Amino acid sequence: MNKKVLVTGGTGYIGSHICLKLFELGFDVYIIDSFINSSHLNIANLKLINTQKKKNFNNKIHIIQGDIRDKSFLEKLFIGIAKKNKRFYSVIHMAGLKSVTESTFNPLSYWDVNVNGTINLLDVMSKFDCKTIIFSSSATIYGKSKKKFLSEDLPIKPCNTYGETKATIEKILSNLFFSDLGKWRICNLRYFNPAGADPSGLIGEKFCLNPNNLFPYLNLVAGGKKKFLKIYGNDWPTRDGTAIRDYVHINDLAFGHILAMNYLSSNKSQILNLNLGTGNGNTVLEVLKTFQKVNNCEIKYVFKERRIGDVTSLVADNSNLKKLFNWSPCISLSDMCRHSWNWFIKNKSTL
Ligand code: NAD
Ligand code: WQD
Repeated sequence: MNKKVLVTGGTGYIGSHICLKLFELGFDVYIIDSFINSSHLNIANLKLINTQKKKNFNNKIHIIQGDIRDKSFLEKLFIGIAKKNKRFYSVIHMAGLKSVTESTFNPLSYWDVNVNGTINLLDVMSKFDCKTIIFSSSATIYGKSKKKFLSEDLPIKPCNTYGETKATIEKILSNLFFSDLGKWRICNLRYFNPAGADPSGLIGEKFCLNPNNLFPYLNLVAGGKKKFLKIYGNDWPTRDGTAIRDYVHINDLAFGHILAMNYLSSNKSQILNLNLGTGNGNTVLEVLKTFQKVNNCEIKYVFKERRIGDVTSLVADNSNLKKLFNWSPCISLSDMCRHSWNWFIKNKSTL
């Protein structure tokens, strides 16, 4: 197979896991990344995994360092591919900024990178008649829904800047689709809470000493880098008073992209909005206890006030994804905790 896939943000947390799957399936992978939130180590390690698996796909990894806001940089890449009389089979678009908290303090960067960057990419794709795209959207666009399971037809009401940029990109993609009927194949994958790492422990989420998200923080406490986890609220209307989220293993999430890509290319032009979550929710305390048990470690915690912007529960209604792609999550919460810790202990010296 010599199909070329362009992955923006492909050296990041989710991107590196998707790239691993793409290599395993024999795709020719072009990665664009500015490395603003990733490191060259992820690439070296992707190559190492291929070597360990005795797969010789390293000549199929093309890393192009650059910024999606730089249109001439994007055009050069597409011109290079066109000169070989080729085109991209699909684009998987993940490049962007992703911190909810940071987005409230630095909104212009979020609009610039996420929205302007995406407009550039779509413009260049359109010029070169490359009209298949999978976009990394987020469950955060549903805002404060009170539904037990979130389905794709719920109103889009993001309540933070980051979520607004994601909702805006979905809107742009929809406008584009209807402006050029019959041409675009678009899939917005609305991720719930990605967690874990590849079992090799060689690729994972970049460390940060003050993470906002639960899994990185659990690792820091278990690894002695933080004294305790602050649990935001023990008065939520849930089985143990802590908030519920739908944690999905990064490799299950990555596989969803492969299915989406294959589905789009073998079906008629369409635009899909699909939740990518397991459909099961766990409380913060359940995650913490699972993490302790499977990794045989202690995680001290204290209860704090609810975090601003948090909601009781966010769990996917994933019936559309299951029906269309025959996707189902294969990896348990226990393995998410094991793999997350495995990544941490193998790489904590880079902290
Ligand atoms: P990440 O930060 O690890 O990966 C994003 C990558 O994009 C990084 O490698 C970064 O260097 C690159 N990048 C950022 N700005 C760029 C630019 N202007 N030009 C080129 N590259 C740029 O984040 P992730 O967790 O892998 O998330 C990937 C995508 O999925 C993001 O769009 C994010 O918003 C979305 N998403 C993530 C989550 C999550 O919980 N991790 C949930 C929902 C959606
Ligand atoms: C999970 C639960 C916290 C840290 C965010 C984004 C969302 C998506 C995924 C990008 C919540 C609790 C957390 C801590 C805690 N990202 N918690 N102590 O907020 O569901 O979603 O990441 O698209 O857009 O909003 O994930 O991991 O931050 O929190 O008690 O130190 O853990 O209150 O209930 P969240 P999270």
